[in-house]
Amino acid sequence: MQILTQSNNMEKIQQGLLERSVLRSSLILSVIIFCLSQVKAQEIPSREIKAFDTGWSFQKNNEAIGPEKNAFDDSSWRRVDVPHDWSIEDLPNQTPGSIQGPFSKEAVSGHHTGYTVGGTAWYRKGFTLKADEDGKLIYIQFDGVYMNSDVWINGHHLGNHPSGYTPFYYNLTPYLKPTGEENIIAVQVKNEGVNSRWYTGSGIYRHVWISKVNPIHVDIWGVNVTTPVVSTSSAEIKLITTVLNEKNEVGNVEVLTQIIGNDGKLVGKSKSSLKLEAHTKTEYAQTITLKNPRLWSPDLPNLYKALTTILLDGKPIDNLTTTFGIRDIQINAQQGLLVNGKRVILKGGCVHHDYGPLGSAAIDRAEERKIEILKRNGFNAIRCSHNPPSQTFLDICDRMGMLVIDEAFDMWNKSKTSDDYHLYFKEWWNKDLTNMILRDRNHPSIVLWSIGNEVPDRADSIGYETRRMLSKRVKELDPTRKITEAICKTPQWDKKSPLMYQDLEVAGYNYQLEKYEPDHQKFPDRAFVGTETFPMLALENWEMAKNNTWVLGSFVWTAIDYIGEVGCGAYKYTPRKDEHVLVEWPTFTAKCGDFDIVGSKNPASYYRDVVWDRSQIEMFTKIACPDTMVVYSTRWGWPDEQKSWTWPGKEGQKMNVTVYTRCQRVKLELNGKVIGEQKVPEKSITVTFDMPYTPGVLVAKGYSDGKEVATTILKSTGKPAAIRLKADRTKIKANRNDLSYVSVEIVDDKGNVVPNADDIEINYAISGNGEIVGVGNGNTEDLSSFQQFRKKVFHGKGLVIIRPKGSSGKISLKASAKGVTGALVELVAK
Ligand code: GAL
Repeated sequence: MQILTQSNNMEKIQQGLLERSVLRSSLILSVIIFCLSQVKAQEIPSREIKAFDTGWSFQKNNEAIGPEKNAFDDSSWRRVDVPHDWSIEDLPNQTPGSIQGPFSKEAVSGHHTGYTVGGTAWYRKGFTLKADEDGKLIYIQFDGVYMNSDVWINGHHLGNHPSGYTPFYYNLTPYLKPTGEENIIAVQVKNEGVNSRWYTGSGIYRHVWISKVNPIHVDIWGVNVTTPVVSTSSAEIKLITTVLNEKNEVGNVEVLTQIIGNDGKLVGKSKSSLKLEAHTKTEYAQTITLKNPRLWSPDLPNLYKALTTILLDGKPIDNLTTTFGIRDIQINAQQGLLVNGKRVILKGGCVHHDYGPLGSAAIDRAEERKIEILKRNGFNAIRCSHNPPSQTFLDICDRMGMLVIDEAFDMWNKSKTSDDYHLYFKEWWNKDLTNMILRDRNHPSIVLWSIGNEVPDRADSIGYETRRMLSKRVKELDPTRKITEAICKTPQWDKKSPLMYQDLEVAGYNYQLEKYEPDHQKFPDRAFVGTETFPMLALENWEMAKNNTWVLGSFVWTAIDYIGEVGCGAYKYTPRKDEHVLVEWPTFTAKCGDFDIVGSKNPASYYRDVVWDRSQIEMFTKIACPDTMVVYSTRWGWPDEQKSWTWPGKEGQKMNVTVYTRCQRVKLELNGKVIGEQKVPEKSITVTFDMPYTPGVLVAKGYSDGKEVATTILKSTGKPAAIRLKADRTKIKANRNDLSYVSVEIVDDKGNVVPNADDIEINYAISGNGEIVGVGNGNTEDLSSFQQFRKKVFHGKGLVIIRPKGSSGKISLKASAKGVTGALVELVAK
C-alpha cells in the first residue's frame, strides 16, 4: 500500500458521480460491509446513488429565455422519462411524401441522419433534500446527452458540454436550497446544424444519476483496478483509490478494499490507514493477491467486485463497488491477441448506438438485446463506432464476454460535416478523452482504445501531432491497454502510412485487405486489425486472421443496420442507362448490416455462419436481374436475396439460387428432381444456380469426400392465414429499464412464416402495466411512425417493443389485421 500523490486542487474538482454498477449495489454493499467488518450501523449514512430518470418535464423548440429559472411555469410541458430521444418521435403536420413519422424530406441533415430532425429542447426536474442530507455533497451525472447541453441548478449555470457521447457531471452542492425547499435542474439540449454522418437521436438519451456523498469520499470514477500479474494459480489485483477530503480539517481514515467473487464470497481484502490533509485529493494504492482466481475471458466472463469502504473513527462514511475481471491481455504480431495466454481472433462487428424503433434511447434491455444478438450469432467483439458507448453497454459486454474497441472520435481538427465535433475538438478533446477513459478503464471487455476513425487530418503534420498528443494522454490515463486508430485509404500510402502508424500500437486498417501482405513484409512486427471490413469479404478477412498471427481479426461494417447514412449499402436493379444511382428518401437506413434495424438476421449473417463454421450450408434465392437492367450495389451491401422459395406470380421467371457451404460439391433438387450439381470453387464458399421458379420444395445437399454431409431446405408456403406473436421474454421486471420484444409473424395455415407478406398492416392494442414504445420492421423504406399502434410487416415479420410502466402486473398485447386471424400475448411485469 502506498500514497501516490497529493494535490491542493479542490477548486478543479467540480464534477462528480459514480459508475452505475455502484448504484445498483451500494445498499447491498453497505450491508455486506457491516457484516464483514463487524462495525455497527453508522450514524453518518454513506454514499447514496439514485437514478434521476423519471418524471422530467420536456418541451421542444422552446426558444423562450427563462426555463432555467425556478419560477418558470412548465405545467404545460410534457412529462417524459429518460433515456429519451425526441428525434424518433412523430413530427407534427404529417404530410404524405414529405413529413412521415419522424422523417422530414427537408431535414437539415438530410440523408446523414436519415431525414430525422434535431433542434433545441428543454428538460426540467425538481428534487428536495431531506433533513439528514445536510452536510452532504450532491452530484448530478449524465451518461450522455445529444448534444451541446447546458445545465442549470436553481438558475445557476453549471456548464456546457458539447460532446453528445461522453459522460459528465456537476457538483450541485453550493447552489442547493435548504432542506425541504425544491431544487430545479434545467437542461437545454441543442442538436443543431449538420453535426453527424449518421443518426444520433436528440436529448437526454442515456441515464442520469444523483449521488449524495460525505465530504470525505472516493472521487467520481476514482477506483482504478488492474491485474498486472495473472495466472490460474494466482493473480495480483492492483487498486488505486482516489479519495477526496473536502473538509477544512485533516481526516484520518482507513481505506478498506474487499474483493468479492461472483458467488458473493469474500476472497481477499486490504485495510490501511490514510491521512488526508484538508482539501486534498489523494491517490492510494493497494495490492491484493488472490489464489486460484477465476479468470475473465470471452467464453467464461467471470467477474469480481471490489468493495471500497472509507472508515472514519471506525465507521463507514463512504462505499462503492467496482466490477472488474481478472484477465491478461497481450498483443503482438508473433502471437496475435492473447487472452490469458490463449489466442483469440477478433470476430468483430462495428455498431452505431441506435436501437432501431427506439431511436437512441439507451434503455438497459435495448443495449442488452443488441449485444445478445451479436453474441448468439458468433461475434466475440464490437467496435463502438465512432464514439464511447453507454456505461450499461460496457457492463453488459463484461457480463456476456464481448470484447470491445472503445473509440473516442470520428474527427479531430478537420470536419466531415459542417457543424460536427471539429468545432469543439481543440477545447474539449482532453476532457472528453479523460472522462471516457476514467469511466471505462475497469471494464475487462475493453481490449483496445481507438483514438479516431478515418479522421481527415490523419496524414498531415497537424494530424501526426494530434495523434501523438492523444496517444500520450491515453497512456497517462491507462498504461495497460494498447492504442489503435481506424485508418482508411490515403494518398501516398507507402510514404504516409509509416508516419500514421508510428504512434499507434495496433494498426487499424479500414478495408484495404490488399495492403496487408505488402505492409507486413515491410513491418513484420506490426499488429494489424481490420477495424472496418466489407461484408462480402468476410471469408477473406477471416482466413487472413486465421492464418496470420499478425492479424488480430476484423470488424464488419456493419453488424447491425442503423438509421442514417442512407443507402450506404444499397443494392438494386436499375435500367442500364442509370450509371449512378442515388439512394435517398424514402430510404432512411444505411441498408447494410448482418442484422436489420429490428434485429432480424440478414443473409450476410448466414453467410458469416458458414465462414465461422457455425453452419454447414445455407441457401438464398432472388429474382435474377432482367437483361434490360444492371445491378447497382456498393461494397457495404449484400444482394437482395431471401431465405424463401415463395415467389407467387413469378412462375417461370429466372431465379438465382445461391448456396453457401464449406462442402466440396452442392446438389440442388426441386420437388425431388435434380436441377444441377456444382463443385464449390477453390477459396470460395459460394455456388449459384440459375433456374426458373416453380413452387415446391427446394433442397440443397452438400457433399464432401463423396458423402452427403449437409442439407438445407426451402419450402413454398401457403397464403397468409394468421398472426403469431412471440415475446422474447414473457416475464419482465416491473422496471422502466426492462423491455419485452415481441416478434410478429404472418403465418400460413401450417404455421410457416409467409416470407412475401409485405402489405399487411397490423393494429395493436395494449392493456395492463405496460406501454408500446416502438413498432418496427426491417423495411428500409417504410417511413411510417415507430410510435403509433400500427405497422406493416416486412417479409412476413414485424416487431413490437413493450416497456413496463413501472409497477407489477399483467400486460396483454393484441394484434389484428384484415383477412388473417389475430393473436394475443400475455406478459407479467414483476
Ligand atoms: C467508413 C466509415 C464508416 C461508414 C462506412 C460506410 O469509411 O468509417 O463510418 O461511413 O464507411 O459508409
